[in-house]
Amino acid sequence: RGADRVGADLAGRHVLVSAGGTREPLDPVRFLGNLSTGRQGYALASVAAARGARVTLVAAHTELPDPAGVDLVRVGTAAEMRAAVLAAAPDADAVVMAAAVADFRPADYVPVKIKKVDRADPEPVALVRNPDILAEVSRDRAAPGQVVVGFAAETDDVLANGRKKIARKGCDLLVVNQVGGGLAFGSPDNQAVVLADDGAETEVPYGPKAALADLLWDLVAERLARSRP
Ligand code: CTP
Ligand code: CA
Repeated sequence: RGADRVGADLAGRHVLVSAGGTREPLDPVRFLGNLSTGRQGYALASVAAARGARVTLVAAHTELPDPAGVDLVRVGTAAEMRAAVLAAAPDADAVVMAAAVADFRPADYVPVKIKKVDRADPEPVALVRNPDILAEVSRDRAAPGQVVVGFAAETDDVLANGRKKIARKGCDLLVVNQVGGGLAFGSPDNQAVVLADDGAETEVPYGPKAALADLLWDLVAERLARSRP
């Protein structure tokens, strides 16, 4: 894939990709985070750039080096990611939310380091819900032909949960990964099924994240060609 492609099939397209894991601060030295490495999102951004797209990459925490040829916007929290994604989305032909966005954040940020107190049990941490960026982007399409893609990591009832999720989010495509047992998080490889809003399912065989990226851009390019020739 990719190497045998004639020309750059995403030339003239602007794509927005989110990647990495958001971090929700509790105090100046602590946060709630997740195990996302950013690898899948970075692979999506690099492959899109190689296929000729102008790429905006909104990156939460990752230890990966900056990819070449993309406009990189760094963010920390889900709120910062939302602001960066909503700012870039109106101009994007496609939006791919590969980031692991925290569902909840601490209700109160403590501006000084929380100290151990001289009793056995700490205070419980109260959490509040973060906005759902993918649902918001799907609902407020910049233009009818914009393609919106989500990712879902599931540990059980993978396809059934994925079907419910694509309906709930309102996105066009949802890449469903099985996680746990060494799959997805932290792995250079990935295995997935891409669900489409029209009911289609595309199996992605176990392989490098760049191969999944290529297949996903094929599906996006096909949709763009239909709606925005
Ligand atoms: N997502 C988002 N904003 C959030 C949470 C998730 O945009 N606040 C996006 C992710 O980037 C991903 C998709 O939604 O593309 C699915 O994330 P997932 O965690 O699987 O779905 P949730 O709706 O949060 O459901 P749950 O965690 O309960 O399975
Ligand atoms: Ca979630």
